[in-house]
Amino acid sequence: MDKIVSLCKRRGFLFQSSEIYGGVQGFWDYGPLGVELKRNLKDAWWSDMISAHNELIVPANAPSEFEMVGLDCTIIMHPQVWKCSGHYDLFHDHMVDCRESKKRYRFDQVRGRWCSHGEKKIFVTTMAEAELELDEVRRRAMKFFKLRPKNADELSVGNESLTLDQIQERDQVLAPDAKSLDTLTEPREFNLMFKTTLGALGGEEDAAFLRPETAQGIFVNFKNVVDTSRVKIPFGIGQVGKSFRNEITPRNFTFRSREFEQMEIEFFCHPEQSKQWYQYWRDRRMNWYTSMGLSSESLIMREHHQEELAHYSIGTADIEYAFPFLPAGEYGELEGIAHRGDFDLRSHMEGKLDPNSPEGQPMQVELNENGKPKHKGSGKDLSYRDPVTNERFVPHVIEPSAGADRAALAFICEAYSEDKVADDKGDLQERTVMKLNPRLAPIKAAIFPLVKKDGMPEIAKEMYSELKKHMNVYYDDKGAVGKRYRRQDEVGTPYCITVDTDTLSDNTVTIRDRDSLEQVRVKIDDLVGELNQRLR
Ligand code: GAP
Repeated sequence: MDKIVSLCKRRGFLFQSSEIYGGVQGFWDYGPLGVELKRNLKDAWWSDMISAHNELIVPANAPSEFEMVGLDCTIIMHPQVWKCSGHYDLFHDHMVDCRESKKRYRFDQVRGRWCSHGEKKIFVTTMAEAELELDEVRRRAMKFFKLRPKNADELSVGNESLTLDQIQERDQVLAPDAKSLDTLTEPREFNLMFKTTLGALGGEEDAAFLRPETAQGIFVNFKNVVDTSRVKIPFGIGQVGKSFRNEITPRNFTFRSREFEQMEIEFFCHPEQSKQWYQYWRDRRMNWYTSMGLSSESLIMREHHQEELAHYSIGTADIEYAFPFLPAGEYGELEGIAHRGDFDLRSHMEGKLDPNSPEGQPMQVELNENGKPKHKGSGKDLSYRDPVTNERFVPHVIEPSAGADRAALAFICEAYSEDKVADDKGDLQERTVMKLNPRLAPIKAAIFPLVKKDGMPEIAKEMYSELKKHMNVYYDDKGAVGKRYRRQDEVGTPYCITVDTDTLSDNTVTIRDRDSLEQVRVKIDDLVGELNQRLR
């Protein structure tokens, strides 16, 4: 992971936000290559899920044909949206503060092990990365018990790594940055929405929130879309955009950020067909990641347990990836596919629904202490009338919700590799290569004149100008060709095109493939077609 992080910084994929001022935790800027990669990723998602979708045919394994359209909604919405969505009341994490270090932690993320010395047993915690955890716990326990290295075998450290929420004996906890025991407060709720103020007056009634998900913009526009685009159920609405969450402990590079991008679909269907659509979208989204280059051995589909389900969800499965910053056997969420029932449309219609309604019972509108609806809905009719059967119903929703930054990170991690290739003299040289899917690669092709004479740079520059109109290409005439190849391999450029002596006589160039290292000669006139075909 360290090598990946360093490559991302060195080659301009990712920078810490406001770095010259020391950075802000949980915020990341994409550099010149990173922005291309992320745009390609979002474009691929948009094309594969929305714009290239053909509503006239039934896709493989789909219950029927369906339509897909897009939206682009605002980040700040009416505050009532968040009351009816449940985010105002329920979108929180539990945090604990350390009275000694004055630091704040997410309750479920403080991890540690039981350590004993003689009769004394304490729970030593650390926020160190997973692979460093055991060493760090041991180091801290040795220090706490004032043990010298030669007495290390007097210390016993538990095999099991536990989180703070799994243990009862809080007075025996050594907090991650504390020297004495029992310095953590009781866990408290902390709402993850960023709050802001509308207008100049700035009273509590002017409070607004930065959206924590793009999904709600889709729900509140459901009727607008049905009325204006003539879509018929089943259909999906997709949106790509920024979301914000005031994460207590942002970490693992861009994995848990405070500002990030989501690629979400809300798929509206008849309640009786919702289970089939749920299955369809789970399979389809999993296949998308493998078709874009993630290996199926590094991906899992994890079904949520009943107690894990979000307040709205009838069923949820996460697509998870074995990120290299996680311990072996652990996976991190890339995307959640949730069966949300009719919770959202009904809430925006009638008012905030009670997530604690007994199972199997229709959801009740949540009431305040005066027996009035706790959060009023819009009062607008968000039900749907089937134009063929005339049946009126509140559609069920299947939501495949992906994170663009997490997906970009997963593709970078998967693509990173090191191997050895022969140089011009036949000697094996180490190379770092990003084996990115060509659709995602920031630079599609690099153009080199073999030498800076005999008119080769002129031909290469002309080719560059022509190809630039079709794709992102890069011109490089500095250093030995082998070195130029290495520079492009490291950032995942799938093709390098070289103008050489033969070009001068026959108007052909070599295309070198990043992964197979195979070189073929192609006529300059055929280059655009050849590259477009390879990049598809
Ligand atoms: N509308 C449903 C929803 O937002 P979620 O599981 O909270 O569900 C969906 O988020 C996806 O958004 C996640 O699978 C993840 O890829 C991404 N995501 C969520 N929180 C994130 C964060 N703090 N940093 C980066 N990506 C995040």
